[in-house]
Amino acid sequence: MEFIQVNNQYKKHVALINLNRPKELNALNLQLMGELRDALKALDEDDNVRVIVLTGNEKAFAAGADIKQMAGKTAIDMLNVDQFSTWDQIKKTKKPLIAAVSGFALGGGCELAMTCDMIVASETAKFGQPEIKIGVMPGAGGTQRLTRAIGKARAMELVLTGKFISADEALGYGLVNKVVPTEMYLEAAVDLALEIAQMSPVAAKLAKESVNRAYETHLDEGLHFERKNFYLAFASEDQTEGMKAFVEKRKPEFTGK
Ligand code: CAA
Repeated sequence: MEFIQVNNQYKKHVALINLNRPKELNALNLQLMGELRDALKALDEDDNVRVIVLTGNEKAFAAGADIKQMAGKTAIDMLNVDQFSTWDQIKKTKKPLIAAVSGFALGGGCELAMTCDMIVASETAKFGQPEIKIGVMPGAGGTQRLTRAIGKARAMELVLTGKFISADEALGYGLVNKVVPTEMYLEAAVDLALEIAQMSPVAAKLAKESVNRAYETHLDEGLHFERKNFYLAFASEDQTEGMKAFVEKRKPEFTGK
């Protein structure tokens, strides 16, 4: 891997992926996105990993898709490269995925953070969809996920002006889960991951899938989907263990089986 670093045993059951193109503010070129897709797939299949944290560095989570790589492209080049099929694969990650964001999360960087399940931000994080300033518009889910996350009026303003919002504004808008001092953002994201990693990995996957369903369907269908996953949880050893441990007044030992 050239543009990312992967540690599948960063902390107990928690894996860490670092975007690593610091000179380019982690601009998301095709190779980086391919590496990220492959790493997430491998971690999804790694039984020891229960939660994944994705981060950049203090200055940038990611400053967007690589503008230099896109600059000379035609519509047909873009169609043929089909970079967004990589994003579709990333979205299919079954395990909880937490973005630890400091500095710039712009364009594709903001979209990548929103593709994760939760965002922990440093107080210096800046979010935005500035594509309009370079004559295009968001293409990796920005107009859809941002609108669902913060509402039409605010999303419209960000997408049409390209302006950035601070971490505190993002918190107030409901885009991020928490804002912490810059020196603590990774630790805070990992702490959240460790908390989730203590739960049943089976239940976590089913619950993640069900929450995401709320974005994609109407209420009746979503409730139906939730119910099926709820019943499926009863096929797991973790359900037996979780409920038995409650009755026996002890901490459950979940195995992901
Ligand atoms: N693509 C390619 N290179 C980028 C980049 C990007 N998105 N963002 C930054 N870089 C590069 C710069 O070109 C620069 O490289 P050089 O030193 O070789 O010139 C280096 O990273 C450092 O950047 P700056 O000197 O610009 O740093 P700054 O602190 O002055 O400004 C910034 C930081 C405000 C983030 C500015 O770099 C910027 O505006 N970047 C572009 C943000 C953007 O428009 N993102 C959307 C991209 S399009 C997209 O994402 C489409 C989609 O929906 C998928």
